[in-house]
Amino acid sequence: MPDDHANRAALSIAGTRPPKPLAGTVRIPSDKSISHRALMLGALAVGRTEIDGLLEGEDVLATAAALRALGAGVERRGDGRWRVDGVGLGGLSEPADLIDLGNSGTAARLLLGILATHDLTAFVTGDASLRSRPMNRVISPLSRFGAHFTTRDGGKLPLAVTGARDPVPQIYRLPVPSAQVKSAVLLAGLNTPGETSVIEPQQTRDHTERILGHFGATVRVEPHPDGGNLVTVVGQPELEAAPITVPGDPSSAAFPLVAALLVPGSEVTLAGVGINPSRTGLLASLAEMGADIARLNERVEGGEPVADLRIRAGALVGADIPPERAPTMIDEYPILAMAAACARGRTIMRGLAELRVKESDRLAAVATGLAACGAKVSVEGDDLIVDGTGRPPEGGATIATRLDHRIAMAFLVLGLATNAPVAIDDARTIASSFPDFVPLLRTLGAEFTG
Ligand code: S3P
Repeated sequence: MPDDHANRAALSIAGTRPPKPLAGTVRIPSDKSISHRALMLGALAVGRTEIDGLLEGEDVLATAAALRALGAGVERRGDGRWRVDGVGLGGLSEPADLIDLGNSGTAARLLLGILATHDLTAFVTGDASLRSRPMNRVISPLSRFGAHFTTRDGGKLPLAVTGARDPVPQIYRLPVPSAQVKSAVLLAGLNTPGETSVIEPQQTRDHTERILGHFGATVRVEPHPDGGNLVTVVGQPELEAAPITVPGDPSSAAFPLVAALLVPGSEVTLAGVGINPSRTGLLASLAEMGADIARLNERVEGGEPVADLRIRAGALVGADIPPERAPTMIDEYPILAMAAACARGRTIMRGLAELRVKESDRLAAVATGLAACGAKVSVEGDDLIVDGTGRPPEGGATIATRLDHRIAMAFLVLGLATNAPVAIDDARTIASSFPDFVPLLRTLGAEFTG
């Protein structure tokens, strides 16, 4: 079970400009979103699911522990190799204790979707970051199925959920572009008679739809007349265990990728990176900024498109990143902002309201941190504006990571390019999604001190 960070000693480190360019080929850690879903679907299927390349980050380990507490057999067989003995849809049993999901919003929201249509009561909590995040966005649609929630003020964790005994199928229009909310509703619909639909005005990551199909559920995705998609799941299918290989996480790849762009003379290849079109907004944005990134060896692994990415360092220019792109790169804005701070000219990242409700308020964390490093940055409404000079900012600051792994990694990467090192106050949060971040970047030639 992940510890609450507040109970452990802080670990401060700094990213430092390396004497030589970054070079080499590395395999990127597995996709966090797909890892959560593989465990969850495995637990709901009938039979044994073998997972290869599961991400062994704290977030995913929290999901594994939760599913075990709910009665599924979840066992580690070796490096990234996990075996899940499913209980069958509707077969989860009441957990004997509180379920602690650590730092993971995905674990919390998707699991609440599953629990909403299981006839049991569970008590769910998380770390200080997760306990501050909005859960009403899932509580509201899940209550319509007939689930009952008792929460802290404002719909915050800890909460108690009692799943509906006779769930009622729903048609739900997403008020925010969120794959977590979409997935929670689809997963609730899975154990509900009839068809449950989600209308998503903007496409968000579609891993839930893909993995449901992989386990034998019927999912239809149709264009909606008002734009976006109508996603429908046919309830109460016979879910069958299915082996699954998890591809590399484009959101983790983003950090060594931008590091390679920013350290002069670098050439790095990142192997096996997921390039699902619902996740490639960062690649599109960096291409507009003049980045040299080649997609090599495109193929399909585990039902997802992947490629090796070859990155060459070079000068970047500012760009205007439209709000429609946000769902396809929602986790990549912190690292894009670091690239923007080293680019020449103005980068405007538009429509970032959702960044305020991530593991931290990322809009504030990025703006405050970049300003402390000497960059020219402002927030106007929901837009983040960075004015770069074409050279990295001075650096030399210590950044508060706010229990946010992506804030921690983004500023460490900036420190590889700045004159003075950039320190973070607590590196342990990186283990949520990328436990080997520091050693992996070191194999490429990056330097970290502290
Ligand atoms: C995720 C969806 C996104 C993303 C998160 C993972 C998922 O959250 O930020 O890291 O696995 O579905 P939202 O759905 O809240 O945008």
